[in-house]
Amino acid sequence: MSISPRKVIFDTDPGVDDAMALYYALAHPGIDVVGITTTFGNVFVAQAATNALYLSALTGRSIPVTQGASQPLVKKAETPPDYIHGADGLGNLPQRVATAGELDPRSSAQFIVDMARQYPGEITLVAVGPLGNLATALQLAPELPTLVREVVLMGGTVLESGNVSPVAEANIWNDPHAADAVFTAGWPLTMVGLDVTHQVILPLTLFQQIADHHQHIATDTLCHAVAFYSAFYSQRETTMGESLACYGHDVLAFVVLTNPELFTLQTGRVRVAVDGLAQGQTMMQRKAVSYPQHGWHYDIPHTQVCMRVQANACKAVIEHTLLRDWIRKPLLALIS
Ligand code: BDR
Ligand code: CA
Repeated sequence: MSISPRKVIFDTDPGVDDAMALYYALAHPGIDVVGITTTFGNVFVAQAATNALYLSALTGRSIPVTQGASQPLVKKAETPPDYIHGADGLGNLPQRVATAGELDPRSSAQFIVDMARQYPGEITLVAVGPLGNLATALQLAPELPTLVREVVLMGGTVLESGNVSPVAEANIWNDPHAADAVFTAGWPLTMVGLDVTHQVILPLTLFQQIADHHQHIATDTLCHAVAFYSAFYSQRETTMGESLACYGHDVLAFVVLTNPELFTLQTGRVRVAVDGLAQGQTMMQRKAVSYPQHGWHYDIPHTQVCMRVQANACKAVIEHTLLRDWIRKPLLALIS
């Protein structure tokens, strides 16, 4: 008996590790990407939408792509980190081929609501950027938590140091008010934060091997992007070793869906510091005690937080999945 693949809306700010995550999802037989909703973050949102269309067209997929949040709900927008992902989000590609495909005209938030209503109980939201699209979808349809199957987000950290401040991770810090709305909405929610993503180091040679295997523009593009991104991480982090390597952050949000046995989870309430020096910190209640401080009331919903990962097995799953036979002929624009 074959189990039908899980319907996923991928909410993303591509971004190099976002591209890795998208290609992992497209390559995995257990996942059906039914839409890509984009947000600002690693790049401005128009570039994020362009990249999502481009990356999916290169693999021969015509998936609905929407453009969503262009700025945080409350705070002033931060500058996109072109030194990590490149000014174009894909490691400054020297050129792009002309691909077919246009944006779905709906906002990302509206698309999420429409799909959740069309497929009640079936949609999994995998969110790997700042969380404005999900927060806005909650405002449009307060019943959304009862309509989606579950939410998995890459963001936050509990015990590991932050990557934009000692306590904050980038996706949460980019829109802390949206993140707090997502953590308190009351849907089945899994957080994949730096506690696990900093354990999985992916060498550039893995992506070179994948590109050599497929001999395809999609995996060549990914490899180019990862080379740029790895140069940043190898220069910044002592954990990368001698050769170029990087964290795969966003791809782990899919690995937890396909291979939950590789992760150790802890359940507890998570809230976000929305301003001040700790802005973007994800604070987790790890003890079953009651606190007098406002904001930790018993009716605040729980989040499942990934605390540990079997790093080598996770790496092997990523390698195995991306080496599958999954890429089709690119959807190129017709030249008249
Ligand atoms: C997260 O921030 C972004 O730069 C990455 O794409 C990832 O989603 C890691 O902190
Ligand atoms: Ca991302």
